[in-house]
This record gives sequence, C-alpha cells and structure tokens, in this order.
Amino acid sequence: MNEAASLRRLLAIESSCDETAAAVVREDGVVLSSIIASQFELHEEWGGVVPEIASRAHVRRILPVIQAALKEAGCLTSDLHAMAVTTEPGLVGSLLVGLTAAKTMAMSLQIPLVTVNHVEAHIYACGMGQDHSIYPCAGFVVSGGHTNLYDCRSATECQLIGGTTDDAAGEAFDKVARILNLPYPGGPAIQKAALSGNAKKFTMPRPLIHSGRLDFSFSGLKTAVLYAARGVPGPNQVAETPPECVNDLAAAFQEAAVDVLVSKCRQAVRQLGYSRLCVGGGVAANQLLRNELQKMAKRERIELLVAPLNLCTDNAAMAAIAWDLLKAGKIANLDADVLPGLVRHNFQKRR
Ligand code: KG4
Ligand code: ZN
Repeated sequence: MNEAASLRRLLAIESSCDETAAAVVREDGVVLSSIIASQFELHEEWGGVVPEIASRAHVRRILPVIQAALKEAGCLTSDLHAMAVTTEPGLVGSLLVGLTAAKTMAMSLQIPLVTVNHVEAHIYACGMGQDHSIYPCAGFVVSGGHTNLYDCRSATECQLIGGTTDDAAGEAFDKVARILNLPYPGGPAIQKAALSGNAKKFTMPRPLIHSGRLDFSFSGLKTAVLYAARGVPGPNQVAETPPECVNDLAAAFQEAAVDVLVSKCRQAVRQLGYSRLCVGGGVAANQLLRNELQKMAKRERIELLVAPLNLCTDNAAMAAIAWDLLKAGKIANLDADVLPGLVRHNFQKRR
C-alpha cells in the first residue's frame, strides 16, 4: 500500500447557513473532495436567506451531497476514521440537519464525532495549503453572517475583539444589491457592476472608521446608497434605482465598505502586535478588498493570508480544522447540540 492510501480520512459536513456541503479530508490536510450545493435560487426572490426554506433544502440535499463527496474521494464509509460537523454559529434548523446526519453516521460507523466552530474554520481556511502554521494571528471573518475580528492564539483559541454593531458586511452587499436591482448574492454582483462604475460620482460615508474601536456599522452606509439611488423619503423619491446610476453606486459603496474593513484590520493588527493577518469568509472573495489588504499588509510589513477563493464562501473542506481538534482529543459526545448564536465574547472551546 502506498503511503497516501494509508492516511486516515474524515468526512466533514457544513450546513450552518444556505450551503449544504460535505468534504473528505485526509489527515495530512489534503482535500480529497469538496461538494457544495448552494441554495441561491431558493433565496433569491427574498434577497436574503430564509431560515425555514434553508432547513428544508438541507434535509433534501444532505444525503446526495454526502454520497457525492464520498464518491469523488473514492472513499467508502468503512474508510472513514471520523465525522466532523459545524455546530456553531449559524441558523438553528440548518445546523441541526448537518449535526443529525453526522451523529447518525458516527454512531452507525462507530467512529468519533468532532464538532467544528464555523468562524474558527473560516480563519483556519487561510492556512490550508500553506507550509507553516498561521497561529498566532489577527483573524478577520467577513461574510454574510459575520464581520468579526479575533485574537487567534491557536486554531481553537480565538477571542472576539471587535465586530459589527448592526449588519454584517456581506449582508450589506446583499441588501445594497437589492436596492440596485442586482441579483443575489449581492457581493459578486456588486463587484462586477463596480468594474464599469466610477466610485467618485457619489460620496459615501465610512461609518465608525475613526471610532478608535474595533467596531463596524453598515446600516448607515446602506441607507446612504438608498437615498443616493432614489432620493430621501418624500414626494421626490423614486421607486426604482435609475439604471444609469447602478454601476457608479456599486463602485462607491464597495470602495467605502472596503475602506472601513481594511482600516479596522490595520487597527487590529497594530493593537494585537501580531505580524500576521488572516482573512476569511465570503466577502474575502472580493477582489478590491484583497488588493487593498495586500497594499496595507505591505505598508505595515505583516504577512497577509487571505483564504483561497474556493475556501472563502461556505464549504466543508475548511472543517479540516477537525483534525487538529481530534489530535487534541476533542471528541464530542453523541448528545452534542448546536450553538446557533455568536453569544460568547470569548468562544474558546469548552469541550
Ligand atoms: O461565508 P459565506 O458563504 O456565508 C456566511 O457564512 O455568511 O458568505 C456569503 C456572503 C454573502 O453575503 C455574499 O454576498 C458575500 O459573502 N460575497 C461577496 C463576494 N462573494 C461573496 N461579497 C463581496 N464580494 C464578493 N466577491
Ligand atoms: Zn461562513
């Protein structure tokens, strides 16, 4: 038997929001398969994720997605050494579907169950494919559900040091896209529209950029786009954004949002005194953000690790973090539950 074939494998499941995902990951971190069934088409007409619709779709998709992941990896269930599953944070119904599937497989196959924190996994994804550990680092998770900064001492010791006081950045991209009549999810649509726009045509606020704290706010920026697009509420307000403004507004919004995100990352790195910044989550796929972070990292002389594009938006491969947990003996009980809210300000694992 060759050496790779003798390496252990785990099956990871991710269903915290609107992607049903499964992956087979080898103990050396190599991703043998990563299947993602997105639900964009189900949520598009609502302009955001509808939790009940998401849970029902997960129920329908979870088994075919698991089967596809095993098939692509050329793996039988009897080849699996462990099950990994996201249990926090996320939508309660969505998380429960993944957890139930993972528990059932762990129990029937008599293999360990490992529970994964989705936010920690987004940061961990920045190190996948790297030849060195990414910890300690300043961690930034910027997605549809989170805009959070962390002091990451290890894979499972990530302390929240700042975050949004209202919308997450991705949520703002999605809502602004709706104002501009662009499709869901809004991030990629705004990025594309902005390419043909002139950001200087509109002046947008940079909320809390000088607050001196590691906090974010996007609701005022979103309202500024709305008013710039349609006028302030009153008799002169128009019902639809004039098409000729869409690209310029997309560019102006994107530039303002990126300015704030980069500025707070710089502040976090300076405050923590680390020489490494790791950025993950769906919005980390944004090209302007990646470019501006790169420039900032060069000026600050820090190492920047942004998650590879295929690991930015939700996926199960980043649950490769489960190998670290397993090696640290962090095996979950079969009565493990989901923890939907990001309620702990210090969410070090309490297993
Ligand atoms: O990480 P993710 O898949 O799910 C959550 O955990 O929330 O992130 C999804 C979010 C959506 O709000 C989407 O609009 C945003 O990531 N997004 C982007 C881009 N690609 C996805 N935002 C800005 N630019 C992008 N290129
Ligand atoms: Zn996510």
